[in-house]
Amino acid sequence: MSDGDGELEARLVEQEEFEPSDEFVEQANVSDPAIYDEFEEDWPHSWERAAEMLDWFEDYDEVLDDSEEPFYEWFVNGTLNASYNCVDRHVENGDKNRVAIKWEGEHGETRTYTYQDLYREVNEFAAALLDLGVEEDDVVTMYMPMVPELPIAMLACARIGAPHSVVFAGFSADALATRMNSAESRFLVTCDGYYRRGDALDHLEKANDGLGGVDHGVDATVVVDRLGDDGFGHDLKGNQHDWDDLLDTHDGERVEPVARDAEDMLFLMYTSGTTGEPKGVKHTTGGYLAYTSWTSHAVLDIKPEDTYWCSADIGWITGHSYIVYGPLSLGTTTVMYEGTPDFPERDRLWELVEKYAVDVFYTAPTAIRAFMKWGTEFPERRDLSSLRLLGTVGEPINPRAWKWYYKHIGNEECPVVDTWWQTETGGMMVTTLPGIGTMKPGSAGPPLPGIDARVVDPGGEEVEAGRAGYLTVNKPWPGMLRTLYNNDERFISEYWEEYSDPDADEWVYFPEDGAKIDEDGYITILGRVDDVLNVSGHRLGTMEIESAIVGVEGVAEAAVVGGDHEVKGEAVYAYVILEDGYEGTDEMRDKIVAGVEDAIGPIARPEQVVFTPELPKTRSGKIMRRLLEEIANDEELGDTTTLRNPEIVTEIQSKVQND
Ligand code: PRX
Repeated sequence: MSDGDGELEARLVEQEEFEPSDEFVEQANVSDPAIYDEFEEDWPHSWERAAEMLDWFEDYDEVLDDSEEPFYEWFVNGTLNASYNCVDRHVENGDKNRVAIKWEGEHGETRTYTYQDLYREVNEFAAALLDLGVEEDDVVTMYMPMVPELPIAMLACARIGAPHSVVFAGFSADALATRMNSAESRFLVTCDGYYRRGDALDHLEKANDGLGGVDHGVDATVVVDRLGDDGFGHDLKGNQHDWDDLLDTHDGERVEPVARDAEDMLFLMYTSGTTGEPKGVKHTTGGYLAYTSWTSHAVLDIKPEDTYWCSADIGWITGHSYIVYGPLSLGTTTVMYEGTPDFPERDRLWELVEKYAVDVFYTAPTAIRAFMKWGTEFPERRDLSSLRLLGTVGEPINPRAWKWYYKHIGNEECPVVDTWWQTETGGMMVTTLPGIGTMKPGSAGPPLPGIDARVVDPGGEEVEAGRAGYLTVNKPWPGMLRTLYNNDERFISEYWEEYSDPDADEWVYFPEDGAKIDEDGYITILGRVDDVLNVSGHRLGTMEIESAIVGVEGVAEAAVVGGDHEVKGEAVYAYVILEDGYEGTDEMRDKIVAGVEDAIGPIARPEQVVFTPELPKTRSGKIMRRLLEEIANDEELGDTTTLRNPEIVTEIQSKVQND
């Protein structure tokens, strides 16, 4: 890497294990190693510890109902409300003046919400939603950037028992329409625009385009005015309402939080899988909230008096679990930032850490790799001494990036938790506990207490230490997805079929990640084993991208693979066959890139588009993606003897090299 090779001294480069300081351990929320045994001995009752972090309206009468595996139920017959747990109870407990959300816009404007402020706005917006006709169990879609109205809208939905489905603002109009159609969602909350690197972006135009693709009636759209005078002057149409007007109309109104069954849906989150259709992951109220609260407490070590910052976007699961639900349930101060890390300057995040005296910071390896590339001068400009703990999520972090983060952001004083989890798991699954465990850079760590994660061979037998295998989770956990929305069959075929033995009543969850385990039980994640890419920590299905490319006029066939990328982790490489009469010109390439951006969003933009007369195929007609990956990575090619058309490989290779 061209990053700061000279910026890590030999001592750190060689060190393989790190311990938390005594000072950290003394203050840690969880510091007794006995917790691992406690969880195991009393499983599943040990999970009551997580449920006890919440206020329940009615107690549950059973921790786990596994009578219809793999459709598990947690905290059976308990009732609660997520909005009550994230807002009201802190107000009632005398913390109404504590800051709940510290928001900073790209240009430096700030907004501060105390728990009382949050309580007021969540209630007013809940009243507005009811007035617009939203009923319990209606799915409300949100297509919003990082503005405080997003968590407010989520909590207002939770208050009235309407599940939300948040669509990342960087996704395209088509992606919005697909998700609204899949969820049969008749309500949308969106925004006029937002700022990116100094420019105002027109978001409402995209939202309106998306609405045009919804194939059922939409009852109401609410639009947040983020840009004010910088706005694009769209008039609101018949069933479109201005957020501020709605709050004015419902000024001071209160809405009782409804009692939701623990198993009632809290939200849907669409994520990419192996087919072109995104999967609607269903999370429930009791198990999910208990799980995110518990892991925020145990892993992120969040205390109510902390200022905590997760730099993810709320449009992804990380933001749901660890900007909104976990931290607010614990009553802490959560920071939200609208912009990018390099605007106006590359020290923007460190400026915010200094300004807000952030205690705990959680980010993605792709960001850390960018920071390394930019160099140490940017963090060195700022006082980062408030930091107590650092975390990463979303993709594997290589030891060098881990150590750079540890040294240059954490000053060798903050433990770093490398947390493995997924949209489907709801919360963290494999990581060290910062107050207990030895940290080994590059390895996420052991499974959390109560989590039975293993590394197995294709037959499901545990592999020996040091060998690569597949990650499985052999017992359920409260934060797990309950199903894929309206698709129980796909839920079973995607996650359970591979390793379960229903006849023996053995149900094993398969996350579709490869992994290794060492003699101490530490798990290193090797990456996806399905056709899902991880671009800058964002999960993208190769099939989704391929179908976008094939949708471009003149394209006959396409294959997409992930190639290594210094900052993004993986980048999209597209190999494209054109129809007769079309040529692989720059114009064609631009059309393909635009086609991908229109269907998915700029995050899926191909790094390289390679035109080829054929794709390498086996005799049975299957595309050999492995070879295309090797070409993208400029690696030596593996076996090509099973190919029907081996000569095409060298042809493609020379095109890539000359490009
Ligand atoms: O491949 C794993 C990778 O991200 C995938 C899940 O993506 P998503 O559902 O979008 O959720 C990301 C945020 C939780 C996983 O299947 N992944 C996530 N965390 C790590 C990771 N890979 C290695 N190390 C991690 N800490």
